[in-house]
Amino acid sequence: MPFTIAIDGPAASGKGTIARALARQFGFAHLDTGLLYRAVGVQGGDPVQVAQALVAADLDRADLRSAEAGQAASKVAAIPEVRAALVAFQRQFARQEPGAVLDGRDIGTVICPSAEVKLYVIANDETRAARRAAELGASVEDMLAQIRERDARDAARDVAPMVQAEDAILLDTSHLSIDEAVAQAVAAVQAARG
Ligand code: DC
Repeated sequence: MPFTIAIDGPAASGKGTIARALARQFGFAHLDTGLLYRAVGVQGGDPVQVAQALVAADLDRADLRSAEAGQAASKVAAIPEVRAALVAFQRQFARQEPGAVLDGRDIGTVICPSAEVKLYVIANDETRAARRAAELGASVEDMLAQIRERDARDAARDVAPMVQAEDAILLDTSHLSIDEAVAQAVAAVQAARG
């Protein structure tokens, strides 16, 4: 039986870094599901049709990391038909042996509700804005406004809103180094593996 790790949380909370580290540590595949919505958001045209036609190769583009792609992603992610078109791809990815790590907003609640481990990764707004600003070479103020707008939209949408699953472990990375955050996540996975 494949082992699934579901990681959710707001923008720049550290979930991507933790997801990559867990995948490396346990030899699991990793899917950054935000890339799916980013790829649909930047493509233009009818987002539902773009989502239905999306293939793995579409996720391999440097421009998907930009702040603009993040905003476009958050907007198309509120369209129920877009989300529905991306479910099968994500669930199939999650079924890989020996395991998979998926990070996003609705992995523990909608995509993989029976994941063996669920983490909900948060950090305070200022910390997240500073991280994103350093990553993208943008101003902290711009990033603060941007992630707040995105989080508000992601949390308020009707379908698969960003929310902590009842059985998810909360991991606040505000005052943790990357190594400390990863160590806590690794410990949670080891505890679940028994
Ligand atoms: O994780 P990210 O910042 O790359 O995600 C970009 C946007 O995509 C995010 O603001 C909301 C949307 N998203 C989503 O709705 N569900 C997911 N599982 C992942 C991302």
